[in-house]
Amino acid sequence: MLKFVFLSVLLLAGGVKGQDDEFLYDVFPPDFQWGVATSAYQIEGGAFADGKGLSNWDYWSHNGSYEGHCNVRDCQNGDVGGDSYHKFREDAALIKSMGADFYRFSLSWARIVPTGRVADGVNQAGIDHYNEVIDNLIAEGITPFITLYHWDLPLPLTWDGSWLNEDIIEHFKDYARIVFENYGDRVKLWLSFNEPHVFCFADWTYAYLNPFNWTQPVKPYICSHNILKAHALAWRMYDSEFRPTQGGKMGITLNCDWPEPLDPANSAHVEASDRSMHFHYGLYANPLLRGEYPPIMRSLIDAKSEAEGRNESRLPSFDAEWTQIVNGTLDFLGLNHYFAYKVVPDDNNESIWVEGDANIHIEPDDESWNHTAVGWPITPFGIRKVVKWIADEYNYPIYITENGYGHWENDTFNDPIRVEFYKQYINNVLRAVRLDGADVKSYTAWSLLDNYEWASGYSVRFGVHHVNYTDPNLTRTPKASAMYLKVVFADNGFPNATRTD
Ligand SMILES: *[C@@H]1O[C@H](CO)[C@@H](O)[C@H](O)[C@H]1NC(C)=O
Ligand SMILES: *[C@@H]1O[C@H](CO)[C@@H](O)[C@H](O)[C@H]1NC(C)=O
Ligand SMILES: *[C@@H]1O[C@H](CO)[C@@H](O)[C@H](O)[C@H]1NC(C)=O
Ligand SMILES: *[C@@H]1O[C@H](CO)[C@@H](O)[C@H](O)[C@H]1NC(C)=O
Ligand SMILES: *[C@@H]1O[C@H](CO)[C@@H](O)[C@H](O)[C@H]1NC(C)=O
Ligand SMILES: *[C@@H]1O[C@H](CO)[C@@H](O)[C@H](O)[C@H]1NC(C)=O
Ligand SMILES: *[C@@H]1O[C@H](CO)[C@@H](O)[C@H](O)[C@H]1NC(C)=O
Ligand SMILES: *[C@@H]1O[C@H](CO)[C@@H](O)[C@H](O)[C@H]1NC(C)=O
Ligand SMILES: *[C@@H]1O[C@H](CO)[C@@H](O)[C@H](O)[C@H]1NC(C)=O
Ligand SMILES: *[C@@H]1O[C@H](CO)[C@@H](O)[C@H](O)[C@H]1NC(C)=O
Repeated sequence: MLKFVFLSVLLLAGGVKGQDDEFLYDVFPPDFQWGVATSAYQIEGGAFADGKGLSNWDYWSHNGSYEGHCNVRDCQNGDVGGDSYHKFREDAALIKSMGADFYRFSLSWARIVPTGRVADGVNQAGIDHYNEVIDNLIAEGITPFITLYHWDLPLPLTWDGSWLNEDIIEHFKDYARIVFENYGDRVKLWLSFNEPHVFCFADWTYAYLNPFNWTQPVKPYICSHNILKAHALAWRMYDSEFRPTQGGKMGITLNCDWPEPLDPANSAHVEASDRSMHFHYGLYANPLLRGEYPPIMRSLIDAKSEAEGRNESRLPSFDAEWTQIVNGTLDFLGLNHYFAYKVVPDDNNESIWVEGDANIHIEPDDESWNHTAVGWPITPFGIRKVVKWIADEYNYPIYITENGYGHWENDTFNDPIRVEFYKQYINNVLRAVRLDGADVKSYTAWSLLDNYEWASGYSVRFGVHHVNYTDPNLTRTPKASAMYLKVVFADNGFPNATRTD
């Protein structure tokens, strides 16, 4: 009740002063945490080092081809990448010099468990490696924030059907146990999965072996269902066996861009936006917080499945036992956000991917929107709206675990557009916190370093530090954006003192 009154006053104040669309000079709450992020395959290299097993991405980048073409731009691979496997101390020094509170990075499952199955053995050299990484971060005063799964899957599990084969649920849990046993004494922040909506609905993780039909999709929902079960088992194990002595928190991070209604004054357009949020974010958040898929997904996909003459829904269900297991298995919600897009309702369209099932249609970007060099919209208002939607729907702590700006490989050290991107996006997060009352705990810049941008290879750079790939030293150099973030981190936002315009 107190909180409600407090929020109302803030909202009213925001409205009265007309601050909503203006740059807000204020700071984040004192316990707000700032970080930078990377993932294992994108920066580590050491692909064949010290007993590491192969992953789907090792295979995919080397041997995968699609209709005779390389899967990855210019056939590039992550064999060496930024070589953070050897340069992790240098990386930690960069993070420290930015003044970040935490470093979000992921573990290579195949480095720790070479075949993916613990019964086949664990790789002590891999375990030792991450012990060194963690100890070094802590010695530098940086909190480690670990993602268990950021898209690189041990190759034998890939051949076994990847996330479509429910045997993987127990393999993931076994791997998580090794991780908690070895690192949980020092690591207190965990993410089970990074962006399941990307890897379950993309064809390069499992559909390469197991193509899925983009109309009337089935496999993306099976993948998602298994992800939810695997997350839940790992969380329950952590909660009962490790949390009592280790005392950490575990969430999941979900990518969610913002579906802006084409006509915000049209309630049908607003409902289309709302459906899109349930189909992208609620698909995972709702089962983990409420024990079931969003009701709008249940009713739409069930009805479509019946109309398609199926004997069961394309969207699986949790039985009573799994409902109990899955329900209530999050300590916080993670959010990765990049841009907004425009949606309209479209009840008559044939089902195509998730938008088809959600009865929506994506319209071209607004003509007034700017775009990054690689074509992504720059829409700072979107991060505030997506955070507000999640806060209103779930009223739960939110960790922003990725946000950032990509440019072609000729990106320079002087990156004013990236600086402006961070300034405007972070200010919109501040408005979500101060004016909309969202409980946001952290902001994470993607990425610490230029890195391997999946199928785009090294052609797109997201780093606030430049990596010189033609220099054998793979020299890291701060871009202007790293220096800018250092100021925002130190100021905990935008106090009047640093006002520059
Ligand atoms: C690529 O294929 C060759 C030949 O089958 C195999 O020896 C090699 O291990 C594969 N490389 C990766 C990274 O999967
Ligand atoms: C995908 O599903 C649609 C609708 O059921 C069907 O017409 C089409 O043939 C399917 N495509 C493939 C490749 O199976
Ligand atoms: C999930 O748990 C909450 C809180 O205990 C409960 O209110 C809700 O009914 C549960 N959901 C399902 C689908 O059982
Ligand atoms: C539904 O039909 C499929 C074949 O199309 C079959 O494999 C499956 O067992 C059936 N499920 C039920 C619940 O009857
Ligand atoms: C259905 O949606 C697809 C993808 O959004 C679009 O390309 C197509 O034009 C739409 N069809 C109709 C009839 O609206
Ligand atoms: C687009 O970028 C320009 C130059 O930075 C800026 O002045 C303008 O406000 C931006 N437009 C939008 C809609 O953000
Ligand atoms: C940077 O690279 C992109 C993509 O290769 C190219 O279109 C653009 O012209 C380049 N810009 C400069 C300044 O070289
Ligand atoms: C990268 O390193 C090479 C070799 O040391 C050097 O010639 C080049 O100028 C460097 N590029 C940048 C952008 O610093
Ligand atoms: C490469 O790094 C080493 C160690 O930091 C340094 O001694 C050497 O001068 C560097 N070489 C180049 C070409 O930058
Ligand atoms: C910060 O600046 C705004 C706008 O000029 C002003 O209204 C506000 O009082 C200032 N706050 C502080 C604490 O100085």
